[in-house]
Amino acid sequence: MNKTITLNDGYEIPILGLGTFLARDEECERAVAFALTHGYDHIDTAQGYRNELQVGNGWKASGRTREEIFITTKITYGNQDYDATVESFQKSLADLQTEYVDLLLIHWPNVKAFDNTLDVWRALIDLQAQGLVRSIGVSNFTIPLLERLLAESSVVPAVNQVEFHTFLYQKELLSYCREKGIQIEAYSPIAKAKLFDNEVLQKTAKKYSKTPAQIMLAWLLNHNLVAIPKSTDEERILENADIFFEFDAEDLNALDNLEPRTRLVRELGVFDD
Ligand SMILES: NC(=O)c1ccc[n+]([C@@H]2O[C@H](COP(=O)([O-])OP(=O)(O)OC[C@H]3O[C@@H](n4cnc5c(N)ncnc54)[C@H](OP(=O)(O)O)[C@@H]3O)[C@@H](O)[C@H]2O)c1
Repeated sequence: MNKTITLNDGYEIPILGLGTFLARDEECERAVAFALTHGYDHIDTAQGYRNELQVGNGWKASGRTREEIFITTKITYGNQDYDATVESFQKSLADLQTEYVDLLLIHWPNVKAFDNTLDVWRALIDLQAQGLVRSIGVSNFTIPLLERLLAESSVVPAVNQVEFHTFLYQKELLSYCREKGIQIEAYSPIAKAKLFDNEVLQKTAKKYSKTPAQIMLAWLLNHNLVAIPKSTDEERILENADIFFEFDAEDLNALDNLEPRTRLVRELGVFDD
C-alpha cells in the first residue's frame, strides 16, 4: 500500500496524518514531536484550533527537516475576504515557524455569502503563486458548493477535507471528487471514538487482530483516502499508525455497509442530510 497519494498539482500528500483539533499547549507539542518521530510525516492544524505555534514547536522539537514533513493549515471562517486571508496566513506561517505550508484549506464555506468564500479562494490562489503554499484546497464542501466554486474558478482544489468514516461513507461526494481530480481527506476518521461498539467492527477487529480504530483507519486507506486521526496519547498515536494492511473483499464489503449512518460535525448550515 502506498504511503502517499499524488494530488492534482503533482505534490504528494502522506496518506496518514496527525489531527490536532483540541490538542493544546505542551500536550500538543509533545504529540506532534512524538508522531513525527514515530511513523507520521503529516500534521493537520487550523487557525481555528489556536495551536499553530504548538504545532511549529512540536515539529522543531522532532528534529525532522521541513522537506521531510507535510503541514496543513486552514483559513478560519472568521476571515471572510482576500485581505483578512492573506494577513492571517502571515501569522500562520510565523506561528508554524515555516516559510511555506504544504496544504492550505478554506476551513468552512460561507453558504449564505458564497462570494466571500470565492474571495478567500482567490487569496489562496495568489498565495500559491507566490510560493507560500504548495497545494490549496477546501474543507466541508458539498457537491453543490464544489460546483459553484468550479463555475467561478479555473483552479480545481487539490483536496476536499470532509467528515468521512465507516459510518459516513459519502459515495456520491467521493465519486464526484474523483471525477474532478479532488482528493478526499477524511476528518473524524474514527468517528471521534464514539462508535467502536458496532458488532461488525468488533468482529472484523478480532479477525485481523486489530482494534476498532485501526479497522476504521485501514478502511479509509483501502479506499485511497487520506486519514488524519487525532490523538495526544502516545500509545494511541502508535496504534493509529499501524494500519497498513488490506481487507478481504467480503470484509471490505461489510465495512462499506455499516449502520447507522452518522454525521458528527454539523455547522454553519452546510449539511442538510
Ligand atoms: N476540516 C474540519 O472542519 C475538521 C473537523 C473536524 C476534525 N478535523 C481534523 O481531523 C482531525 C481528526 O478528527 P477528530 O479529532 O474530530 O476525531 P477523530 O480523530 O475521529 O477522534 C479523535 C478522538 O478519538 C480519541 N482517540 C484517538 N485514537 C484513539 C484510539 N486508537 N482509541 C480510542 N480513542 C482514540 C482521541 O482522544 P485522545 O487524544 O485522548 O487519544 C479523540 O478524543 C482533527 O483533529 C482535525 O485535525 C477537521
